[in-house]
Amino acid sequence: MKTMNNKLIDGRRLQVPTLKIDTKIIDGKAIAENVKLEVKQHAQRFAAQYGRKPHIAMIVIGRNPASEIYVRNKNKDCEDCDIDQTTYKLPDTTQERLESLIHELNATETVDAILVQMPLPKNLDAKAIQNAIAWEKDADGFGIENTGKLWSGITDATCACTPNGIRHMLHECVSLESLKGKHAVIVNRSNIVGKPMAAMLLDMDMTVTICHSKTENIKTYTKTADLLITAVGQPGFIKPEDIKPGAIVIDVSMNKDAHNKLCGDCEDLTGVAGYITPVPGGVGPMTRAMLMQNIISCAYKRLK
Ligand code: GUN
Repeated sequence: MKTMNNKLIDGRRLQVPTLKIDTKIIDGKAIAENVKLEVKQHAQRFAAQYGRKPHIAMIVIGRNPASEIYVRNKNKDCEDCDIDQTTYKLPDTTQERLESLIHELNATETVDAILVQMPLPKNLDAKAIQNAIAWEKDADGFGIENTGKLWSGITDATCACTPNGIRHMLHECVSLESLKGKHAVIVNRSNIVGKPMAAMLLDMDMTVTICHSKTENIKTYTKTADLLITAVGQPGFIKPEDIKPGAIVIDVSMNKDAHNKLCGDCEDLTGVAGYITPVPGGVGPMTRAMLMQNIISCAYKRLK
């Protein structure tokens, strides 16, 4: 697409043609629906083989409204996929009581997968809780066994759902071959998004930079990204001038704007980005679909 742009050249204002990029929207919701249909078939095959449905235990602690919504959505996904779920809603708890519940679930034959919704109240040690879950029942892949396997390239790791969903979207919409050797910039260093994402992109032969809240001149990095993944939690953080024309931009954040409308980190990037993910309807549904896939693989991993 060609448009005219008014530019100052040698002290004179001239009309110069600029190429506008035909930005494509990555429809995470549609891709996630297809994944869920496949998961449902696997769940039904599992039920026929073992006489019961795959089963996840979810634990949510405290009254975090966002966590309650996430868990309710995950409950609905399980229903859609013919997966059994038991949700433990604990108004508050201690480290000992929570670890004891997890040990009980680890030992329960009919529980295939366990998830503890993050973030946890401040009195609880999240790392110890994540590592109390038996590695083969670790639905999020946050424990050290699965994390270590991911970084070692061992393929039976259960992978964190958000980065795994992003990898799946890239596989569906952009050839992974075309990303080899290209520069990926991730603006997030969490155990849930940034770090596992970096491991996956390295395995895809990308060159990876992780930026975070202490990175100096962050936009000098975002401007060089062929693939930009942002999970900052700040509406308007990425502007059209902050990206390389044609870049693939994956917006992980779920924020509310000044009008209380859901939005990500990015301003409107149409005409500059090559691909963008919408918020809502991009990364969110893919994260949930990957959880459903993880439950099935946990169930088969235990019983094979
Ligand atoms: N909180 C935000 N994202 C996640 C996730 O993927 N899993 C869990 N357990 N908690 C989260």
